[in-house]
Amino acid sequence: MLFTDLPAFYARLDSRYLVTNNQLQSATYTNVDCNFVFSAEFARHRWFNYKEGFSPRLVSRIFDGYQLTASSVVCDPFCGAGTTLATAKARGIPSIGFEVNPFAAFITQVKTADYTEEDFQQFQSLLERLGKIDPAAPQKLPDNAYLCRVFDQEMLLVQLNIQDFIHKLPDCKAKQLLRFAWLCTLESCSLYRKAGNGLKKKNKPPAYPSGKALELAYAKIREKAEAMIEDYSPQDTGPVPKLFEESAAQLSKRVDRNSLDLALFSPPYANCFDYTKIYYLELWFGGFIHSSAEQKSIRMNSVRSHCHATWPERYTSFHLPELNDQLLPLLKEQKLWTNRIPEMLNGYFADMEEVLRQIHAALVSGGHCAIVVSNSAYAGVIIPTDLFLAMIGERLGFEVEEIEVQRLIITSSQQYKKTEHLRKYLRESIVKLKK
Ligand SMILES: C[S@@+](CC[C@H](N)C(=O)[O-])C[C@H]1O[C@@H](n2cnc3c(N)ncnc32)[C@H](O)[C@@H]1O
Repeated sequence: MLFTDLPAFYARLDSRYLVTNNQLQSATYTNVDCNFVFSAEFARHRWFNYKEGFSPRLVSRIFDGYQLTASSVVCDPFCGAGTTLATAKARGIPSIGFEVNPFAAFITQVKTADYTEEDFQQFQSLLERLGKIDPAAPQKLPDNAYLCRVFDQEMLLVQLNIQDFIHKLPDCKAKQLLRFAWLCTLESCSLYRKAGNGLKKKNKPPAYPSGKALELAYAKIREKAEAMIEDYSPQDTGPVPKLFEESAAQLSKRVDRNSLDLALFSPPYANCFDYTKIYYLELWFGGFIHSSAEQKSIRMNSVRSHCHATWPERYTSFHLPELNDQLLPLLKEQKLWTNRIPEMLNGYFADMEEVLRQIHAALVSGGHCAIVVSNSAYAGVIIPTDLFLAMIGERLGFEVEEIEVQRLIITSSQQYKKTEHLRKYLRESIVKLKK
């Protein structure tokens, strides 16, 4: 295939499906509900800003569209910060989730647990005690030079003392609430911020008078805790989701065949982002990982959506002619920032096919699968992930009901120039499949 064949190639694939895009003209990152921004309006969802998540508004719209009831069962095999699961709980719908990142799984677990008034009272008294710790008590510094640099020296010692205080508390729900509130504030006290695919040095580091680092850290934890306490409601008693801290590729071992009414999810996008880099601070300081080997093992379990790991071969029989015989050979001829991108993309779609195969088996006949996903672009070649997932779904036996385009995505100015004439395919969509 040549570069000049691309417009006809995408148009041909697009024409196979019902692609709806009614509101595209006005859609931007901040006004479509497939993004996390609206989560700030919802109790519990606002507890952690998981930028890669979608919003409870989108989940509710999809639940309504499929007329789910309390006797339905929903699964989110890439549950992230638990938007699908927390929305299901609030609506009394049983749900099941999978997540490989232990920090994200922890967010989901805390957001979807049942709490009593006593749990929150105890949370408040632990909070009071935290405000009185000795911020300068000596602590062993992390055995990791990068971790020692992410806070200034005074703040690092404060954070280690907070960590130590929480770690020594006896296990209870109040402890988890406090640990959660603390982890939510790490980034705001750090010299680094989440940016794209990892952490970048802040232009404006947190400022406080010397000797007052605990005051700053504590004020941030208090503010977070107050929002959480405000969200407590004794009526919040929907079914607690079943959460598996493991790969979606284990779904068939955990979920019975013909038992799900809906699988709703947003997998990692094929955009080279590594979640273990983005959540590095929380994973290490939160004690979810203690070594590079543990970080690597999370990567190994995750979908092959980035090039920061070398995975052992899996699902080697995967072959999608439009990807493997047409798009990837063209991509391999381009100048890429790493020549591992074509292999990564092959791995990505192979992994997604395996998960979709297991979802198909787990759905009841007539059950639905809705996938929120963005397309990506490398060297001017758009990877039409929405169309490829639809095609993979189709060959697994799904009917492709619709591809609902949510918005056009903005790429780097370099990619923008290269893909301007194909812009309508550079989009975030919901791929709707039916068994
Ligand atoms: C786009 S995020 C999902 C966000 C979620 N919809 C929300 O609203 O919070 C994708 C998630 O998939 C997780 N993930 C990556 N590979 C996975 C795998 N093989 N199994 C389960 N989860 C995986 C990532 O850690 C990430 O949290």
